Amino acid sequence: MSVTVFNPRIDDDAAAETTVTARAVTALKEPGPAQAPVEKAATKKVFITTQGCQMNVYDSDKMLDVLGDSHGMEVTHDIDEADVLLMNTCSIREKAQEKVFSELGRWRKLKEKRPDLVIGVGGCVASQEGDNIQKRAPYVDMVFGPQTLHRLPELYDQSHEQRDIAPKNRIGTIDVSFPSIEKFDFLPEPRVEGYKAFVSIMEGCSKYCSFCVVPYTRGEELSRPLDDVLAEIDSLAEQGVREINLLGQNVNGYRGEKDDGSICRFAELLHYVSHVDGVERIRYTTSHPLEFTDDIIDAYAQLPELVSHLHLPVQSGSNAILAAMKRNHTIDVYINQINKLKAIRPDIHLSSDFIIGFPGETEQDFQDTLNLAKELNFDHSYSFIYSKRPGTPAAELPDDVSFTTKKARLAEFQKVIIDSTLAKTHEMVGTTTRVLVEQVANRHPDCLIGTADNTRTVMFPYDEDKMDELLGKLVSVRITDFVSPHMVKGELIEVLA
Ligand code: SAH
Ligand code: F3S
Repeated sequence: MSVTVFNPRIDDDAAAETTVTARAVTALKEPGPAQAPVEKAATKKVFITTQGCQMNVYDSDKMLDVLGDSHGMEVTHDIDEADVLLMNTCSIREKAQEKVFSELGRWRKLKEKRPDLVIGVGGCVASQEGDNIQKRAPYVDMVFGPQTLHRLPELYDQSHEQRDIAPKNRIGTIDVSFPSIEKFDFLPEPRVEGYKAFVSIMEGCSKYCSFCVVPYTRGEELSRPLDDVLAEIDSLAEQGVREINLLGQNVNGYRGEKDDGSICRFAELLHYVSHVDGVERIRYTTSHPLEFTDDIIDAYAQLPELVSHLHLPVQSGSNAILAAMKRNHTIDVYINQINKLKAIRPDIHLSSDFIIGFPGETEQDFQDTLNLAKELNFDHSYSFIYSKRPGTPAAELPDDVSFTTKKARLAEFQKVIIDSTLAKTHEMVGTTTRVLVEQVANRHPDCLIGTADNTRTVMFPYDEDKMDELLGKLVSVRITDFVSPHMVKGELIEVLA
């Protein structure tokens, strides 16, 4: 893994192991042709920490790519040998934001010992705080947002040239603007190891849910042109990638421009991606019920490449709370969408996000949420206590629910979710499932390991002579044993693709 990940969306260690698979940064080892010659002795090392969502994991990889491509920098996992320290931050909840400054405090001590150390803060906290970061942490050299990470080489050069000036007095070392979608035009060719890759199809969010900072930190929804997305996927597939995960805050709001100036919507994009040679499996993260339209549901009938798993955040089971959250749909709409999908794909696995303790949440609202989770029997879900975010409309709402009540509700809710995760994994025993084979299992070298449609890790014994025929293939595995809530064991039936 190329980045250190703190992921508040993942609620247990096993899930973190299976879900966060940041790719190895081969671009750093093989700088592209545009790169200026770099003397071996001058090779600088970058240490990076990543908080937050999959978008941030993706962005961290890109930060390493641009610095590798422009300056021949290499990634290091040892902070003591790093020349550049980067922190990719998350502000979705207060706790994540506070971690930024406590971690920066530790980095300050390192910089006192090694004044040449260059410290950069990127991501959503940087976007939100801008030059305030340096007011609280004057030793920070560079501040950049999710949309300006491609300018990191320039920010680094500016910091280096002005290294004798105090960081706060330097010019050109802070950039948290939203320069349309130019970021993608400046990123080096994607290079990967492994069979799975994320492809960002859009930036930002225009839904403005009343509790959420994303529209303010990442800007409004902007889609990448269709041809750009497909060219990236082509290139990944040529390098052996078999599973594409389309990434964005609300991928189903995708409106990518086509060559002829017309607009490609998400369902159509799914069709295009399924036609790319080599792509065997398609996932997407995340979508919003508001634009989960019938053409997307129909795609599940037409495209076997679409996994039988849908992550569709609902946030609450109460219509009153959904209205206060400005989600702009009702529970009936959500249940209807799920039922339509189940009619097409009876084996669909579901997951969701929930916020517990939103301002004004009554005991009845909470019970409605609990009942929805029981009724829909999710494969897994992420749930969080509401966190008040400055500048969002919900921050102005009167909040009469005590923190003790919120904590008790969260514990009760998570028990339901954990029970259904466990039950779903146990139910896999005796069934046959589709698995993308990824590697030899670290702790069980007699087994290969891969991921099922429902994100469970699947392990199965293999014949060593057949290893090359199996790696990177979609296979069918009969599940024989439960190993842990997110992991099962089985036996190979056949190679599918
Ligand atoms: N695009 C997604 C969500 C992106 S943010 C959607 O359609 O909902 C990821 C998750 O963080 C959200 O689904 C929500 O559950 C959680 N979240 C966002 N803001 C929050 C806040 N202020 N307090 C607690 N959880 C929050
Ligand atoms: Fe946030 Fe709502 Fe968008 S949760 S990311 S504003 S869909």
